[in-house]
Amino acid sequence: AAVVERTFNIGNTTLTRLCNQYVITAVNGSMPGPTINVQEGDTLVVHAINNSPYNITLHWHGIFQLLTPWADGPESVTQCPIRPGGRYTYRFNITGQEGTLWWHSHSSFLRATVYGALIIRPRNGHSYPFPAVYQEIPILLGEWWNANVVDVENTATETGLGPVNSDAYTINGLPGDSYSCSQNQTFQVHVTHGKTYLLRIINAALNEEHFFMIANHTFTVVAVDASYTAPYNTNVIVLGPGQTVDALVTTNQSPRSYYMVFSPYHSNPNVGINANITRGLFVYDYATSASPVMPHLPAQNDTPTAHRFYSNITGLAGGPHWVPVPRHVDENMFVTFGIGLDHCNETGPNACGGLNFRLSANMNNESFVLPKGLSMLQALYQNVSGVYTTDFPSNPPYVFDYTDPALATNGTAIAFAPKSTKVKVLRFNSTVQVVLQNTAILAMENHPIHFHSFNFHVLAQGFGNYDPNVDQSKFNLYNPQMRNTIAVPVGGWAVVRFQANNPGMWLVHCHFETHLPWGLAMAFLVENGPAPYVLPPPPADLPQC
Ligand code: C2O
Repeated sequence: AAVVERTFNIGNTTLTRLCNQYVITAVNGSMPGPTINVQEGDTLVVHAINNSPYNITLHWHGIFQLLTPWADGPESVTQCPIRPGGRYTYRFNITGQEGTLWWHSHSSFLRATVYGALIIRPRNGHSYPFPAVYQEIPILLGEWWNANVVDVENTATETGLGPVNSDAYTINGLPGDSYSCSQNQTFQVHVTHGKTYLLRIINAALNEEHFFMIANHTFTVVAVDASYTAPYNTNVIVLGPGQTVDALVTTNQSPRSYYMVFSPYHSNPNVGINANITRGLFVYDYATSASPVMPHLPAQNDTPTAHRFYSNITGLAGGPHWVPVPRHVDENMFVTFGIGLDHCNETGPNACGGLNFRLSANMNNESFVLPKGLSMLQALYQNVSGVYTTDFPSNPPYVFDYTDPALATNGTAIAFAPKSTKVKVLRFNSTVQVVLQNTAILAMENHPIHFHSFNFHVLAQGFGNYDPNVDQSKFNLYNPQMRNTIAVPVGGWAVVRFQANNPGMWLVHCHFETHLPWGLAMAFLVENGPAPYVLPPPPADLPQC
């Protein structure tokens, strides 16, 4: 195992997109930022130097951070931001996981431009649990705004209505030839006939789930969220924000160009979204000059296709880093979540778009607020009270038909959830089962729920209200997929199980970028266990508040 050391200079960069020049915040002058390659067992050391005008933190999405909670990165949860002119070194081991993960800013909207791939290969002497591949290709799906992304978020907060749609989707930072002035900004992969390629696909978009296809080609999925899966064949890949898919593709078609396309999936066609598609090219050697083949895309609201992909994948039981499902559950939780309303507390001409309410979100009727000042992990370590409370409810306060849209008008109790910073305390090493129930207070949509630090087994998922009497019989306790982010079905539920094996403060949140500031979040406080499973002291350079 090696120590891999990188320096990330975060600062202004000028680039051209969609016919104009823009100044953005980026790492080492590029967007996406650098790809980090490590082997399982390595230690990664990243020196983050903030030369940007913004407060910022970096998060290593999906990394367990075993006994390195100070390196996790969510602002106000595990650290205060790195101020302009400041620096902080993230240092952690990467053990027990392989595949594709990514890193991104965990401050405001900055992850729109501050993100990159984090690829974990097997250690020396170990190999993939699938045949050797000819080449590996990282594919980062992103979102681009012409406006300054921090302003986009501030305006969204001020109006209380949500962000303006992005101006383009991007593949590896490039909008592709369906956008004006972007013919020369089309991501291209040049491939040789008769080979197998490993695509490492990351959904780094902020506000949409996506379909991904390459015309005339089928994929074999071999991992999701850096957990190996049983090989799963499909012609369309679906990813919620935060999720990754490793897929094999064999170049067995005639030599020409094929479009690789990603297009938004949204369960609710009435919610305003950026409905654009973005094209890249998959170009064979000796390709004919005929125009590229377009895939036949699913409809934007094709929930059956999305659900088939999400629910048919199984884990690779017995494969590398496989974790058997813990059978005994110590802690049962039932967590509802969705979008609701809040009273308008803004003033000024733009306040709440002239309405007397604004959008808000909650988990178990608590709308999560990030603390100002000391981070939650610092408060835990220093035993400072008043930053958070430990009374996050294990069950929702109201029991009724969570998927009844009528709640939008009569569900005032849930629609107007109180604001709080409540955490759920877990005993070290307890096994936790969480029923995640999507509610229909306002917009009906999937919510990609991300757990920091923990991979969970996805035991079952479905539509409607979760019913233990019926749905427990659907649990896959043998080879469920393991993930760090699950798109909980629209008007539906998912049951996940994990082991709280890492002391610290771990955020759980919706990975749609606006849902976190709206309050669709909570946190787990995992208590100390026997040595060495004890919260370590913060590094000396931890940014101060
Ligand atoms: Cu990918 Cu809390 O983040």
